[in-house]
Amino acid sequence: MPDTARSKRSLPAVLLGFLLSVGLASGQTVLAQDDPAASEGSESQTGVPYAFPMSGPFDAAGVEIENSQEIADWFRSAHADAAAEAFRHWDEEEEITAVCATCHSGEGFRDYHGLDGSEAGVVNGPISTGGVVDCGTCHDAGLNDVTEVVFPSGLRHPVQGVEASCMTCHQGRTSGTQVSEAVAGHALDTPNPDLRFINPHYATAAATWLGGYAGSGYHYEGRTYAGRFFHAPPVASCNSCHDPHTLEVAFEPCQTCHLADSPQAIRIARQSYDGSGDTTKGIRSDIEANAATLLDMVKAYATEVVGAPIIYDGSRYPYFFADANGDGAIDQTADGPTAYAAWTPRSLRAAYNWKLVTADPGNYAHNPVYMLQLLYDSIVDLGEPLGVDVEAMGLRR
Ligand code: HEC
Ligand code: HEC
Ligand code: HEC
Ligand code: HEC
Ligand code: HEC
Repeated sequence: MPDTARSKRSLPAVLLGFLLSVGLASGQTVLAQDDPAASEGSESQTGVPYAFPMSGPFDAAGVEIENSQEIADWFRSAHADAAAEAFRHWDEEEEITAVCATCHSGEGFRDYHGLDGSEAGVVNGPISTGGVVDCGTCHDAGLNDVTEVVFPSGLRHPVQGVEASCMTCHQGRTSGTQVSEAVAGHALDTPNPDLRFINPHYATAAATWLGGYAGSGYHYEGRTYAGRFFHAPPVASCNSCHDPHTLEVAFEPCQTCHLADSPQAIRIARQSYDGSGDTTKGIRSDIEANAATLLDMVKAYATEVVGAPIIYDGSRYPYFFADANGDGAIDQTADGPTAYAAWTPRSLRAAYNWKLVTADPGNYAHNPVYMLQLLYDSIVDLGEPLGVDVEAMGLRR
């Protein structure tokens, strides 16, 4: 991630800025700005709290603040990045749509789980913009009563404590079930304008991690799929690898079990999955190579079998666009780029699996086996009408 302005601000400024804006001032006298009584020096718990002592002189660095390390770590993380698209997307509407708010605001998250006293399992109405993944998202006592998290496939996965938080927001928005339902009853290789690309959403780590057990990918008939990646204790939960505040993964603990010089270079598998025969590189390389092969085949299938070329552009929704004359440029109309509308069941399910795998930058550590299975099966399936011999390519499942 590129160095951002927020990581350059000094710690006291960070802390005080945070306390003033979010209002976490434990251990300090809390004065209310809006409360007329405040100017007379009496205490109040309402309004915008200040972390400053009752009397001066004082300087910011001298003010002792509880949990300052956690706050500073969190403040530099993506969860606190109020400028990110993930939190600014609704600025124009000035409110976050209820179905989106669960994961795009701490307030929405608390509403969804009923931690604010509302009905659990639903966000009751739009949530105001301006929120991030705040402290109270993970540190609400009520989270202990959340014993299961529902995944897009309908799976009710048992959780304990703060695990509920990561599992709720990093589960993606779709499952293989939605893909199966969309393509059911349609001829496999006939383009169908009713089919739209199904996007698994972003940072879908929990969906990857639970794998076939959560039904995250599209599962081909007659194939079995790896479930949750149990890995090895103690690396058995999100927070055993990710610092919950910086969100970073420390590499040192990995080295008790793995001989490698980076997470990306870790490999246990003794076979090559991507046809390169190279088993010295990290398993991540095999996943990346097969993902690239799959995307190439989605494109080849669109051109050669369907006769409607496709272009992928990861920066624009819905990512797959039409290129009717095959000149390599996305077709444009007055309304903007033309979304791809010649999906067949075969291309849709393969493109879905490709997007699911690549939507998780940590896929190789979260569930390498499941990733490789989804890619392989999708490649084999597209290979049929294309007449590609996957065995000859040296690919393995
Ligand atoms: C299950 C949780 C969840 C739900 C529900 C959800 N999102 Fe997200 N969304 C995420 C997560 C997690 C990310 C962060 C991905 C990243 O940037 O690392 C994200 C990222 C985004 C981004 C930023 C993508 C980018 O390019 O940076 C947009 C835009 C977005 N979501 C829109 C929506 C909309 C619109 C809805 C409702 C229709 C929605 N999301 C519902 C979890 C969710
Ligand atoms: C995404 C979830 C998440 C968010 C957001 C979050 N925390 Fe935490 N926090 C955790 C988890 C998980 C632990 C437990 C870590 C452990 O047991 O190793 C923790 C531990 C702590 C601890 C105890 C540290 C220790 O070593 O026992 C403090 C204090 C704390 N958090 C404060 C905060 C504050 C203040 C904020 C907001 C600035 C915050 N946290 C935001 C998940 C979160
Ligand atoms: C309320 C929803 C929510 C919860 C709860 C949540 N996250 Fe996130 N997470 C997000 C969003 C949204 C982003 C993207 C933010 C952005 O783009 O700045 C994100 C980003 C991340 C990232 C990417 C960091 C980066 O540098 O891009 C990691 C890693 C992560 N979360 C891990 C966790 C873990 C571990 C937990 C549980 C302790 C957790 N998250 C809980 C919503 C959530
Ligand atoms: C075995 C250790 C491990 C476990 C367990 C784990 N992760 Fe990861 N995670 C990683 C690694 C390694 C990366 C890749 C980091 C990199 O390449 O910089 C990663 C990447 C991520 C990312 C993408 C960060 C980015 O840069 O966009 C998110 C989000 C994430 N993990 C969330 C989670 C969640 C949520 C869980 C629990 C369901 C989890 N992780 C469990 C090791 C782990
Ligand atoms: C306690 C020992 C242990 C620790 C610590 C550990 N791992 Fe592992 N790791 C394993 C074992 C055992 C496997 C094989 C698991 C399996 O295939 O079911 C594995 C498999 C993997 C794989 C898949 C390799 C392949 O070729 O399929 C990756 C990637 C990985 N670990 C990453 C990490 C990262 C990143 C960390 C640190 C955040 C980590 N591991 C920490 C024991 C560990």
